Amino acid sequence: MGKIEWKEVPCNILDSLPKGSLTGGDRVILYTLAKDKEVVEIGTACGMSAIVMANVAIHVTTIDIFGIRDYTDIDSAYEDVKKSLSVYENIKVIKNNSVLECNNFKNKSCDMVFIDGNHSFEAVTADFYAWLPKVKDNGIILFHDYSDIHPTSKQAIDRLYEDNKGILKDLNIDLEMENVMKGFKIDRG
Ligand SMILES: C[S@@+](CC[C@H](N)C(=O)[O-])C[C@H]1O[C@@H](n2cnc3c(N)ncnc32)[C@H](O)[C@@H]1O
Repeated sequence: MGKIEWKEVPCNILDSLPKGSLTGGDRVILYTLAKDKEVVEIGTACGMSAIVMANVAIHVTTIDIFGIRDYTDIDSAYEDVKKSLSVYENIKVIKNNSVLECNNFKNKSCDMVFIDGNHSFEAVTADFYAWLPKVKDNGIILFHDYSDIHPTSKQAIDRLYEDNKGILKDLNIDLEMENVMKGFKIDRG
């Protein structure tokens, strides 16, 4: 796997971001890998990662069930986030369960899928197997929260890699900046 040339996120983009939990390194990774890509994101929250990617991607579809903690009802969370992201013409916000929503996508239609939804072992595994067929040959699956702070997510990603080594080529993300990303190129041979 060739060495990736990481791109810093410009200050004007950083200044415009809503709250979220992405580290500086996470943002650099999203900003670099999403360039010129059709991206699907699982887990919109307030839209921080979607905005970082939309600045360089062709298009970002971001999916969330919208059960955000600060909101009392799911519909108002969806409407608020959709409104705040509407300034980005290349972002589409979808309210749905990620595993159900994958049925609305053709196989091999996504350049990159960013999985940052429910971090349980079962949910990370379900998202991977639901979305893997949707990723183009040589496309990317990127996971957030590959970290000891999220042991279930890390364990699931390690298991998925073990079970799918034949097609998952580790991007070996090794930024010196703090980050909790794990990414794979899909090599179906
Ligand atoms: C960590 S947050 C996403 C953060 C966002 N990517 C960012 O960095 O700005 C995880 C989100 O996943 C959503 N989520 C959890 N399970 C989901 C599912 N099955 N389908 C779609 N979204 C889900 C939650 O509602 C939550 O908003």
